[in-house]
Amino acid sequence: MAHHLSGPATLKGQVALITGGAGGMGMSISKAFQEAGAKVIATDIAESADLGPGIDYRHYDVTSKEDTDRVIDGVLSDYGQIDILVLCAGTIARTPLAESTDEEWDSIFSVNVRGVVNPTRKLFPIMCDRGFGKILAAGSIAAKNGGVASGPAYVSAKSAVHGLMRWIAKAGGPHGVYANILAPGPVETAMWAKLTDNKGPSANSTVPLGRYGTPEDIAQAALFLCSPASNWITGTSLDVSGGMWMD
Ligand SMILES: NC(=O)c1ccc[n+]([C@@H]2O[C@H](COP(=O)([O-])OP(=O)(O)OC[C@H]3O[C@@H](n4cnc5c(N)ncnc54)[C@H](O)[C@@H]3O)[C@@H](O)[C@H]2O)c1
Repeated sequence: MAHHLSGPATLKGQVALITGGAGGMGMSISKAFQEAGAKVIATDIAESADLGPGIDYRHYDVTSKEDTDRVIDGVLSDYGQIDILVLCAGTIARTPLAESTDEEWDSIFSVNVRGVVNPTRKLFPIMCDRGFGKILAAGSIAAKNGGVASGPAYVSAKSAVHGLMRWIAKAGGPHGVYANILAPGPVETAMWAKLTDNKGPSANSTVPLGRYGTPEDIAQAALFLCSPASNWITGTSLDVSGGMWMD
């Protein structure tokens, strides 16, 4: 059984693959991981992303199994290994249950659930064979509190992601493969702006720390969960929500 002891939060020598890397959180995580010493491959369906020098950007639609094989096989052949997988690709909808359509449910589940299943299904056995890997998925406070500004399809999809990561944590533990979840509250990215026009917390604020999150808040939490600093933590969901959710 592989044992990994905890140590400082450096990613020197590690290779990190990020999905949704052109988005608010994915981009910030990519940059933070690069600063911590990792070789970073950021992926997204966007044509390009302003990630700065040194980060390898590749087009990847997480809903496609063929694309998953192409991207992961390509990264393995170019870099020799993938130590870290961060799953940030996501879409949101806020339609209430009675008005929600099959198309919306299929679309939200396709990106937010199948888009997590595809890369983890491919990489998990490879990481197990190597005896090491860290998988981190963007879950949500929505999976715990029923949604801040999101609809039932999104809440259900994020709950599925929380469950899948726990399964991976149990199955992967004996092989040195970790799986954890970030459970952010509202973070000021394109996704949140689309939902709310970026209105801040109200006067009777539900955010004890008094502000919404920034992508950098998320990136530093992601660094903790993907680095040796958290080598005795797996299967957890870390609330990064300014105190909106206390567990
Ligand atoms: N912003 C928030 O308040 C918040 C809170 C909790 C959880 N989250 C989750 O965090 C993750 C990142 O969100 P964000 O706020 O950075 O949003 P964002 O919209 O800035 O980024 C999401 C990215 O996913 C990409 N994407 C969409 N469909 C894709 C596909 N099929 N294949 C590959 N990439 C695809 C988009 O192009 C975009 O770049 C999402 O999973 C989101 O659900 C966000």
